[in-house]
Amino acid sequence: MNWIIEKANDYAAAFTSAEEGLLAEISAFTATQHAEPHMLSGHVQGRVLAMLSAMIRPARVLEIGTMTGYSALCLAEGMAETGILHTIEKRESDANTARAYFNRSEFRDRIIQHVGEALPLIETLKEDWDLLFLDADKINYVFYYEAVLPKIRSGGFIIADNVLFHGQVLEEAMKGKSAKAIHAFNQHVEADPRTENVLMTVRDGLMLIRKK
Ligand SMILES: C[S@@+](CC[C@H](N)C(=O)[O-])C[C@H]1O[C@@H](n2cnc3c(N)ncnc32)[C@H](O)[C@@H]1O
Repeated sequence: MNWIIEKANDYAAAFTSAEEGLLAEISAFTATQHAEPHMLSGHVQGRVLAMLSAMIRPARVLEIGTMTGYSALCLAEGMAETGILHTIEKRESDANTARAYFNRSEFRDRIIQHVGEALPLIETLKEDWDLLFLDADKINYVFYYEAVLPKIRSGGFIIADNVLFHGQVLEEAMKGKSAKAIHAFNQHVEADPRTENVLMTVRDGLMLIRKK
């Protein structure tokens, strides 16, 4: 079964638009220099994010979990002409790496970085969001969702990453606290009458959520 999924993933990558220069550089840097390279969205998911953003054409995007800046640049591609993306990262080393890449991109003046713990920072941002990309610590997903949802405009979107949590949410005896938190998040979203949602089995699972 695994080989089918692996082959299907390779096939999907072969028939997905290539990574543009700076993104390929971030991928290569992260793969060789970062302690947790598996956290990067990567080629196919990056193109999914860019495509979804281009469909939404958001004016205000919030990302929680910048890491080395890959997904922020993918999301920025689809923004409206005057669109602004805010991204939050608690690790200074990652924020510095991302800043260097942002400064070399066409979005250097339209990406605003925030360094620190996400929850208190979210409260300081006085914006109405068109799109939230949720990709930080899994145990706080429900809290991030509840903190940002009131500030998402009606008809706006949330994309939450890792909602399959390496397949651990499928196990009957779920052990890890992150897997349990993700499962609780998925249940929370599914039961929420304020939103509609679809769980896509892309990479580690993307939950697409639309505020009614
Ligand atoms: C999965 S990585 C993000 C990957 C990136 N979005 C991408 O796709 O290229 C998660 C990031 O969230 C950051 N993070 C984790 N907990 C956080 C918190 N409480 N506040 C802010 N950032 C946090 C981590 O340091 C890490 O860089």
